Amino acid sequence: MENFTAYNPTSLHFGKNATNQLADVISNYGKRILLMYGKGSIKRNGIYDMVMEQLKSLNAEVFEYSGIKSNPIVDDVYKATEYGIENNVEVILSVGGGSVLDSAKITSLSIANKVDTWDLMKRKIEPKSKIPVVSVLTLAATGSEMNGAAVLQNHETKEKIGLVHSLNYPNHSFLDPQFTYSVSKEYTAYGIADLMAHTFESFYGGGTASLSDRFVEAINKEAMKYGPKALKEPSNYEYRANIMWAATNALNGLCDRGRTIGDWGTHAIGHILSFLYDTPHGATLTIASLAWMKLQKERIPERVAKLGEHLFGTTSADDTIQNLSKFFKSIGCPVKLADIDIKKEQKDEILELMNRNQVNGLVHELTEEDRERIVDFMYEE
Ligand code: NZQ
Ligand code: ZN
Repeated sequence: MENFTAYNPTSLHFGKNATNQLADVISNYGKRILLMYGKGSIKRNGIYDMVMEQLKSLNAEVFEYSGIKSNPIVDDVYKATEYGIENNVEVILSVGGGSVLDSAKITSLSIANKVDTWDLMKRKIEPKSKIPVVSVLTLAATGSEMNGAAVLQNHETKEKIGLVHSLNYPNHSFLDPQFTYSVSKEYTAYGIADLMAHTFESFYGGGTASLSDRFVEAINKEAMKYGPKALKEPSNYEYRANIMWAATNALNGLCDRGRTIGDWGTHAIGHILSFLYDTPHGATLTIASLAWMKLQKERIPERVAKLGEHLFGTTSADDTIQNLSKFFKSIGCPVKLADIDIKKEQKDEILELMNRNQVNGLVHELTEEDRERIVDFMYEE
């Protein structure tokens, strides 16, 4: 086991009607609130009205920034930052999934430090402060509600990159599983895939960490047990609650403790697909993780086999890959590029961007030749 420091400052409020405490919590931070949300799902499912009802009791001034897209872009963060500074906002309230929350985290840093947003993302400037971020999560997937990561795309520089920073943890996150009842079958499945992929990044990280491997096993077993059930019965509280809690724990530090670092090669590959084709994050990962493991079974066969032993009770690397592929298909996720309508002729543009952006793992390094083999694997069943 490696040495580690456990740090997680987010207060997480989980359960039925958890957001009833929202006004109390926000009142600690101020009355000028920047409310950030996406493309309108919160208006259709009633979450917007519930949140506004809470804010009304505070006599707060609410400044709304909406329209944040899935696979969020830095342009929205620039605009939200300007709007927030103009209006002297004191706190940001993010209502949505990972895309809204990641945008809110970087808006918070940009407002507080008054520096260029992309310079922060590229770590050219070290942020010194933040304004508080409160999250009402509406989709179980990224773990952003309890971690220090935020991921944005920039179409000028052709990148989708993350900033991991201790200031990025939300101050408070509210998780009411009932808020996820309206998430579509597709995004429910992508969320399950994403949370599983997060544990794989840890599992293939540096060093040996027996208990963290067990956490990976437990989280995946929850995902594979309750995921299909939630897809069949989207308004079942227990199913949604178990998935939501699994997603938080898949990327809040739990699975990394005792390791040097996670790998994150699969995510780097997935970000290329999201950038080029706007593919939903979870859908990129089912394709990318299978391809990545096909390459790695030649190099770390015992480790790939070990994952299968934990998840399926199998003994070979091939069994791991086959069983994962079967599971991903069973929940409606793509397992090869053709499943998301990417043609053979597009291979060169995928590879070119992978090489341009130096797609790599933090533990398992990828050469140009490896990248090409991974792309070829992504075309295979
Ligand atoms: O835009 P709206 O109208 O809100 O609709 C969203 C969006 O279309 C919809 N949705 C969200 N909650 C809903 C709902 N629809 C009905 N009912 C609800 N309750 O779902 C769609 C997807 O939302 P999005 O926020 O994009 O999904 P997700 O939470 O999966 O976030 C994906 C983003 O997070 C990044 C990904 O790269 C991607 O950009 N990630 C962030 C991480 C982090 N901060 O730790 C780690 C991850 O690995 C990931 O990279
Ligand atoms: Zn992810």
